[in-house]
Amino acid sequence: MRANPQQLREEFRSHLTSEEIGSLGVDLGAGSNHYRAYVGPPFNYDINGALQFQFMLDLGLREYHRFLEIGCGSLRLGRLLMMYLLPSRYYGVEPNEEMFHEGVRNNLGASLEDSDFIRLKKPTFSYNDAFDFSLVEGTVDFVIAQSIASHTGVEETKKLMTSVSSVMHENSIAMITYIRCVAESKSNKENGWFYPECISYTDSHMSKEAKALGLIAYKTSWPLLNKRTDGLITTQTPLILTRKPWKATLAQQFSGLNIDAIEQLV
Ligand SMILES: C[S@@+](CC[C@H](N)C(=O)[O-])C[C@H]1O[C@@H](n2cnc3c(N)ncnc32)[C@H](O)[C@@H]1O
Repeated sequence: MRANPQQLREEFRSHLTSEEIGSLGVDLGAGSNHYRAYVGPPFNYDINGALQFQFMLDLGLREYHRFLEIGCGSLRLGRLLMMYLLPSRYYGVEPNEEMFHEGVRNNLGASLEDSDFIRLKKPTFSYNDAFDFSLVEGTVDFVIAQSIASHTGVEETKKLMTSVSSVMHENSIAMITYIRCVAESKSNKENGWFYPECISYTDSHMSKEAKALGLIAYKTSWPLLNKRTDGLITTQTPLILTRKPWKATLAQQFSGLNIDAIEQLV
């Protein structure tokens, strides 16, 4: 059974001081101009980042892997990933530079230039909205684009997936989330960037785009539920992309993703 988002928010609020409620943007709606609210409902900023991190562990992420995060926002996930990964393994792309720097200051306690943590972990960042991933200089082992294809139109989703494919080697794993719809009539047909509203795609739209790039698309269950103040509830569905047919790695067997729940999309 899923937690009611309203109750989750109330419970969260009940554990905070009024100063924290203000500084953490708890009462702001998703998409508001605040480093937490901009990337989703502020009351689940912690769980949302942690669920993404947990999912990457399930997919076999080890500290030696090279990792690209597309649309790293205010480092909701990035703060956890950078701590876990060895130095020089984390790459983040984010067009909203101001919000990104707010995230750095609030999550890491100093600016990018002054942070000892950044000096230790040596991440690389690029500020662009062109799905230009040249910052990785080659390929990476893992890619995540969480809550990006829930806002990209047809052409932009194609470009996103093409660029993801360009940084994948034979054993890379990419995870792109989207809002899944069943009816073809509800599947978005327009181009552009839709934000903070969400758009949806059918499984077959996403898998067709993957196939055109020579990638294999898989789905599995993942409970990432968001509720905005206007009542819109969105559930991010993970699309897992590989070049080779799914075969559980040692790390995946160790960390326990329910491999049986991985299902190829046709
Ligand atoms: C819903 S937020 C998710 C942020 C982050 N993935 C997370 O889960 O915390 C979407 C993010 O995508 C960023 N974005 C917008 N256009 C983008 C593009 N063309 N390429 C990469 N990121 C983009 C936004 O600035 C925003 O930070």
